[in-house]
Amino acid sequence: MIIEPRMRGFICLTSHPDGCEQNVKNQIEYIKSKGTIAGAKKVLVIGASTGFGLASRITSAFGSNAATIGVFFEKPAAEGKTASPGWYNSAAFEKEAHKAGLYAKSINGDAFSKEVKQQTLELIKKDLGQVDLVVYSLASPVRQHPETGVLHRSTLKPIGGVYSNKTVDFHSGKVSEISIQPCEGDDIENTVAVMGGEDWSMWIEALKAENLLAEGAMTVAYSYIGPSLTEAVYRKGTIGRAKDHLEATAFTIADSLKDINGKAFVSVNKALVTQASSAIPVIPLYISLLYKIMKEKGIHEGCIEQIQRLYSERLYNNDGIATDDKGRIRVDDWEMREDVQELVAKLWPEATTENLSEIGDLAGYRHDFYNLFGFEFDGVDYKAEANELVNVPSIV
Ligand code: NAD
Ligand code: NA
Repeated sequence: MIIEPRMRGFICLTSHPDGCEQNVKNQIEYIKSKGTIAGAKKVLVIGASTGFGLASRITSAFGSNAATIGVFFEKPAAEGKTASPGWYNSAAFEKEAHKAGLYAKSINGDAFSKEVKQQTLELIKKDLGQVDLVVYSLASPVRQHPETGVLHRSTLKPIGGVYSNKTVDFHSGKVSEISIQPCEGDDIENTVAVMGGEDWSMWIEALKAENLLAEGAMTVAYSYIGPSLTEAVYRKGTIGRAKDHLEATAFTIADSLKDINGKAFVSVNKALVTQASSAIPVIPLYISLLYKIMKEKGIHEGCIEQIQRLYSERLYNNDGIATDDKGRIRVDDWEMREDVQELVAKLWPEATTENLSEIGDLAGYRHDFYNLFGFEFDGVDYKAEANELVNVPSIV
């Protein structure tokens, strides 16, 4: 069928298999162009189908010739209905990995559940024996707790007071004032339950209990900090509490891995357009200004550039792994550079509906958003019939 983007609010209901394939191929080419990384050879990526997790899987496979197992939660296609983009990304990834002679298998299901953990452990046991890197890159609005059965929902709310600031509807380009009501009730606990570190440590405990982590194995999860502009709704809001918890969990996991000389880190990554970040008020306006500034300075990066730098200059750098005073790896260092943040702060009060496409990179924001769903890629004929019924070759 001929597939066009169909928007509803901040989400796109369709995705393009050939565009997603092009996206994956472009990322693979980038990694190959940067040369070999002396990284892990057997890698488990939890949240492997989009964003930073997909970039991690690609970097391991095509930067270090690693065997990869990817866990994700995506929707396969049905007749006349496209799959979710992560499904097509994973199909394309496996196809390219297999062509290159690399082991690649995938598990589609709820990573928070006992069943999917068990399936993954069995697959590692059967095919890889052990893994030496576990990337934890889940982003989800809900988690059903595997012990209590409670369905936790995360929120993106300020704590303690109403937060008012500017935002942009990136589709229309309209800049407006918004106010977000503070969290209440169990919002903080629920957000920590979904996006905090408990599930990450459950994965590592389960792997370790079955002796599936190799001597010296490493695990990394992804976090975000951002500028004071977004602090009230991000780092000092409900999601920030979850990130605090995730960052603290890195230390408890590191302790538990001492006997196998294992390591656990959180990497703080840069703000990027993803399905998740588009839904957070204020962030799209921040990203629009940030992109423009970072592109002008020649320091803009997408997920794949971020993860390539994380692996080559942090995780697998011979001089040891540099961290900040809280033990975190920082690849948001260029975003947080003083000259960059000074410019964002200067432009922020000036931004209006009329001038945003000039002082900010609204076009770049939109383009990246379309790219998430496989649209607007060079080299793809969007007028041609596409086969929506693409399968992931090695789904377990
Ligand atoms: P994303 O939405 O692109 O990827 C989320 C992944 O999780 C997908 O592979 C999805 O299939 C998987 N997933 C979601 N729920 C699942 C479930 N129940 N079971 C199995 N898989 C599930 O998100 P992203 O932006 O790449 O975020 C990944 C991590 O990076 C998050 O911790 C996020 O906070 C962090 N981060 C994001 C940004 C940003 O600007 N986007 C910046 C810094 C850090
Ligand atoms: Na991801």
